[in-house]
Amino acid sequence: MYNSVFIETFGCQMNVLDSELVKINLKKSGYKVVNHNMKADIILYNSCSVRSLSEKKIISRLGHLKKRKKNKNEIIIGILGCMAERRGKNILKNNKHINFLVGPNHIDEIPDLLKKAEKNIKNVNIVLDKFKERNIKKKGNSFLKDLNVFDTVRNNTKKKNFKAFVRITKGCNNFCSFCVVPQTRGPEYHKDPDVILKEIFHLVEKGVKEVILLGQTINHYSFIKNNIRISFADLLDQIHKEVPNLLRIRFLTSHPKNFSDKILKVMSSNDRICNYLHIPLQSGSNRILKLMNRGYKVEDYLCLINKVKKKIPSISIFGDMIVGFPSETNEDFQKSLNLLKLIKYRNVFIFKYSERSNTIASKYFIDDITINIKKERHELMLKLQRKITLSKKYELMGKKVLVLVEKSFKIEQVDNNLVFMKQKIILSGRTMGNDIIHFNGFHSMIGQTALVKITKINDLMIFGNLVKVF
Ligand code: SAH
Ligand code: SF4
Ligand code: F3S
Repeated sequence: MYNSVFIETFGCQMNVLDSELVKINLKKSGYKVVNHNMKADIILYNSCSVRSLSEKKIISRLGHLKKRKKNKNEIIIGILGCMAERRGKNILKNNKHINFLVGPNHIDEIPDLLKKAEKNIKNVNIVLDKFKERNIKKKGNSFLKDLNVFDTVRNNTKKKNFKAFVRITKGCNNFCSFCVVPQTRGPEYHKDPDVILKEIFHLVEKGVKEVILLGQTINHYSFIKNNIRISFADLLDQIHKEVPNLLRIRFLTSHPKNFSDKILKVMSSNDRICNYLHIPLQSGSNRILKLMNRGYKVEDYLCLINKVKKKIPSISIFGDMIVGFPSETNEDFQKSLNLLKLIKYRNVFIFKYSERSNTIASKYFIDDITINIKKERHELMLKLQRKITLSKKYELMGKKVLVLVEKSFKIEQVDNNLVFMKQKIILSGRTMGNDIIHFNGFHSMIGQTALVKITKINDLMIFGNLVKVF
């Protein structure tokens, strides 16, 4: 009876990958995956906890389902991922209609949890690691389940993708004072390089052209094998050498602490590694960075960025910033703005500080910046970065760039300023530097590489003309 599953995914790329694996696993177990919750009798939310807004979205979804479940008792509801892990049983207080909670390290157990729920629809099953209650700083992974096997569930699927996420580390040992991730994903865990390579071989065999390596602090990757330490730089180099048919290698997210020169050397000397770096600064004030427990000073960050720009002049740098961290003064905020002017990121994800319970910041600092000031600083920073992003985009004008085609869509309305005609097929794809480019083409070009000449740039989009398809 219960056979159609709908999964909605919140949060970061790790969650996107987890949901993809869960879907494949469920299909293997005989379930049908549907694209709308109204068509489903099993509804799963793969949740995020990083900001309070992320959790509110799921609570609101659950509110809607309450009524539906009252009328139609035969829906199974499961909460997966970070919010399940962080809030545990507390979510159930106001949401007695949930059937199971499962943390990020146990998503392979979902078919079993569904069987249990099918047998007893009133029962609630909970499978979590409870990192909060343990000493999560503990080294090693003795209580962490090895999900390497689960990561390979997609090896035998027929589905053709030209782009794929590959997890190389999970968890985080940094304990930035604002961040909930060490509580939700647990301590850092690094995958065996041979397992990673095997996974990439399989993907490339099936037509994958771009692999995006994932890790919370990816440059901290380290694995000891036969008494030899394999660093992130070594791993990157190995992937580049051993998988020559892989067109693009991208990775995220980097941490400014311990970002080795060797990584830059490998990036600059291997042309299929994208000229792309997502390396969050968080604040331009040393006082705030210290309170954030980020482990570096503005000077260290700038020195690294200068090195990056010198070694890889075409680098596309993306960042993250938080505004309104406890005690942030106007002066601190100005320093953050000045840093954006100096670094000139390709783009920055800007967040208003959101207090998360059980973090160091929530225990020791007062969330004293009013929501209005946070909003004001957020808007000011966005405005500045938009200008910088636009000026960076203009550097592409007239240039020919290589684009991996991702999507096609029809343009409905015609703006006189647009270079495209009504009802034409528009393609969009990414450059190695992660710029999204729009141009005319055919649906069949999806997954192919195209050479595109940039002809028009505005606030929202970059347009070009197709020169050649490879
Ligand atoms: N692992 C990455 C990012 C993890 S979370 C790193 O360490 O850099 C993604 C981004 O969300 C962070 O870079 C930070 O800018 C933002 N973020 C995390 N916790 C937050 C909080 N409590 N309030 C506001 N933004 C937050
Ligand atoms: Fe969170 Fe900091 Fe770890 Fe990033 S490094 S996941 S911000 S604790
Ligand atoms: Fe969110 Fe968890 Fe990712 S908290 S950002 S889904 S690691």
